[in-house]
Amino acid sequence: GKDGYRHYMEKELHEHPLVIGQTLQRLVDPASRTVVLPDMPFDLASVPRAVITACGSAFYAGMIGRYWLEDIARLPVDIDVASEMRYRNPPLTSGSLGVLVSQSGETADTLAALRSLREKAVHILSILNVEQSTMARESAVVLGTVAGPEISVASTKAFTAQLTVLACLTIATARARGTLDTAGEEALVAALLDLPSRAADVFTSGDAIRRMARVVAEARDVLYLGRGSMFPVAMEGALKLKEISYIHAEAYAAGEMKHGPISLIDRTVPIVASAPYTPLFDKTLSNLQEAKARGGRLLVFTDTKGADRVSAIAEDMVVLPHVHDFVAPILQTIPVQMLAYEVAVLKGTDVDQPRNLAKSVTVE
Ligand code: M6R
Repeated sequence: GKDGYRHYMEKELHEHPLVIGQTLQRLVDPASRTVVLPDMPFDLASVPRAVITACGSAFYAGMIGRYWLEDIARLPVDIDVASEMRYRNPPLTSGSLGVLVSQSGETADTLAALRSLREKAVHILSILNVEQSTMARESAVVLGTVAGPEISVASTKAFTAQLTVLACLTIATARARGTLDTAGEEALVAALLDLPSRAADVFTSGDAIRRMARVVAEARDVLYLGRGSMFPVAMEGALKLKEISYIHAEAYAAGEMKHGPISLIDRTVPIVASAPYTPLFDKTLSNLQEAKARGGRLLVFTDTKGADRVSAIAEDMVVLPHVHDFVAPILQTIPVQMLAYEVAVLKGTDVDQPRNLAKSVTVE
């Protein structure tokens, strides 16, 4: 049941801290505080590149995985949505690593992409929530997201669990490739182990998120902005808003705004930005300044280290705990999903069963 929550989505949002913790329990050895992945029939040290593919929210998780694998493991990564990947016929080196991400393990396009990668002798590693699924049976390795059943059509906890697995995969790959030393691994693992309690702290921002929701609920269009690993977080926020509140939202890499979408900005198009204090904070803030100068209303998700500077320009903000840059996209996802939820509640939509959508998309 819903355990007293209004919707499954609300219940599942509150499970973020738990599922991040459960997923880490599977992949981190508590004694050595190192990542331990199951045995694999191939060697992560010798894969020449990775190909990541998925649909919807799972694709955005994969995009964050790309930033991590490139930056930390120095592994070249190609990524595309599964419905494009399956027909793109990209030239692939056999022995590459195929990373498939899916909550259900049954999504038709992702399954077809899996099969086309396998035909090209790519090693298939799937990150799945349903471990008894069609994709699981066709994969060389399955890394489970220990999120439990997700009922709400809009994915929430499965997404942060996917990110947790991708983070661990990145650490293991980096170690194997010699791009991360012991001290480096310890710091990243410590940041991950700290996440469940930081994620629980996010729920103290409920009032601020509901205040933002009242502004967003009045809008016809909303622009979501972020840079680096916060760009896919913005995409996730925009998808969730569209899905359950039926408000048009678009996500842009903040630096790309002046190449077009800035012409949209006026008082009627709220700007939701994800801007924690990471190395891209200053760049993001200057993009937000540009939007504000054109009359944009800024609703900003930041953290304790960014709060002073954000408060000088934002109409409203949500201040999360400051965490290591590596895990910031995991933490920052939670409030953007909560915002979409609160907007949908204000709009009175069928939150758990939005129109025209199915939980698992088993047709092309
Ligand atoms: O089961 P999957 O993870 O393969 O599903 C992929 C997408 O259909 C899914 O993430 C969809 O975008 C969600 N409704 C997003 O909230």
